[in-house]
Amino acid sequence: MRLAIFASGNGSNFQAIAEAVKAGRIQGEISLLFCDKKEAYVIQRAKDLSIPVISFSPKDFESKEIYEAELLHLLEEEQIDLIILAGYMRIIGPTLLEVFSNKIINIHPSLLPDFPGLRGIKDAFESGATTTGVTIHYVDDGVDTGPIIAQQSVEIEADDTLADVETKIHAIEHKLYPEVLAQIIKTQQGESCS
Ligand code: GAR
Repeated sequence: MRLAIFASGNGSNFQAIAEAVKAGRIQGEISLLFCDKKEAYVIQRAKDLSIPVISFSPKDFESKEIYEAELLHLLEEEQIDLIILAGYMRIIGPTLLEVFSNKIINIHPSLLPDFPGLRGIKDAFESGATTTGVTIHYVDDGVDTGPIIAQQSVEIEADDTLADVETKIHAIEHKLYPEVLAQIIKTQQGESCS
C-alpha cells in the first residue's frame, strides 16, 4: 500500500504515522509527503526520516483546479493508493476527490459534527464545552463532513488552559491515527487479495 501524507504545519501527526510505519505497525510505505507551505516544519521532519518531499502552493498556479491537477499527476505517477491528511489545512476539491473517492482520510481535533473547520480545539474550548475529542473520517466534498471512521473523547476540566486541551488532543491523535490507519490498510489489503 503506497501512502501519500498531506500536511501544512508542524507535522507531529506525520511523525507519529511515520514512526508506526517504520516500526511495522502500519503495513504500508510512505511514498511522499506533500506540503503546501514551503516553510512548514513538517518538511524538516520528512527530510530527517528520508521521506521524499514535494512542496508547492496553490498560489503558484492560476487556479485550484490546475494546482490539484498537478498534484493528481504526481500521485498517479507514484501509484499512490491512499491519501492521509495530517494537518493539511485546505479543502480537497473535485479534481482529487473524483479519482481518490473513499481513499482520502482526515484527522480533525474535535468530536465532529461539532466544531468543524480550521480551529477545532480553540472553538470547543471557547464554547465552554466540557467534552471534546478527535475524529478520523473519510473526506467528502464538505468541510469535515465525511463518513466517520473513529472518534475518541477527552474531558475539558474546569482549570484546563487552551494549551492543556491542545496537549491532550495531540496525545490522543498520535496514538489513535496510526492505530486506525493500520486497521484500514489491513482491511483494504485483505479485500484486494480476496
Ligand atoms: C492536528 O491537531 C489536526 O487534527 C489538525 O491540525 C493539527 C495538525 O498538527 N487538523 C485540522 O484542524 C484539520 N481541520 P500537526 O501538524 O502537529 O500534525
